[in-house]
Amino acid sequence: MSRVAYVNGRYVPHRQASVHVEDRGYQFADGIYEVCTVRDGVPMEEKGHLDRLERSLREMRIDMPMSRAAFSLAMRETIRRNLVTNGIVYLQVTRGVSPRDHAFPTKKIRPAVVMTARNAKAHPAAWIEDGVKAITMPDIRWGRCDIKTVGLLPNCFAKQAARENGAYETILYDDKGVVTEGSSSNAWIVTEAGALVTRAPSNEILNGVTRLELIKLAAAEGLKFEERSFTLDELRRAREVFVTSASSFVMPVTQVDDKTVANGKPGAVASKLRAALMAHMDAQVAAAK
Ligand code: PDD
Repeated sequence: MSRVAYVNGRYVPHRQASVHVEDRGYQFADGIYEVCTVRDGVPMEEKGHLDRLERSLREMRIDMPMSRAAFSLAMRETIRRNLVTNGIVYLQVTRGVSPRDHAFPTKKIRPAVVMTARNAKAHPAAWIEDGVKAITMPDIRWGRCDIKTVGLLPNCFAKQAARENGAYETILYDDKGVVTEGSSSNAWIVTEAGALVTRAPSNEILNGVTRLELIKLAAAEGLKFEERSFTLDELRRAREVFVTSASSFVMPVTQVDDKTVANGKPGAVASKLRAALMAHMDAQVAAAK
């Protein structure tokens, strides 16, 4: 099967898919993106991802390049043409092509829209059964982490550090020792007192679509939930740690740096929420068929 990419309204062979050298996304990271999970060929949490895409564009002062319905159609067509059953679909919108100048172009230009989709392997059973390792690092990103921009270099550095340390993820903290989020995920703990905690949305973190869904699922499960910041110290003393994202779902973390989390096994809350999220995705697939 040959892969296909969506580029500005056309489906082109993946190998030939390209944008102009003066695309502002390429020169200035002047663009935004979304990553949606695909289950059984159906994009998950489509509304949440399109809501955030619209919000990111608004914050960037980039016009919606096409309607939500058109995004939805193109997403589904990209999934279909790439024979994606379980994997991800990636959407990117950049401000467009213009002679290089830091300030926004004065002339109205057309935003560039790109989409790709691919199948992804299921998480190894050991990650779910035993949990994964996370390391911690200072958060060196900018002051608008709520916008899902393609400017991800600090996130890339953090993920690379995780790879080099045999870890799945890097959990970031600010200059006061307060946890912000993962390099590509939101961070959660269950405190010693048994409360489920994740940070409130602000400019310091990306408001994860998975995070928003999990808050609803936690309420339905009757879990004690606190939306607040937590410190590195609380992270180290937590009964449970896990990270969430479109590609991680709910990933239990059983080691933070050199310290084992609680008894070193994934906790009951993470397991319950992972199962609830999987069931919620199954329901979305069933509703779409
Ligand atoms: N990352 N925080 C950051 C910095 C992220 O990059 C992501 C997602 C999240 C979780 O958001 P969501 O639940 O909507 O996936 C939080 C995606 C998966 C990525 O960049 O590949």
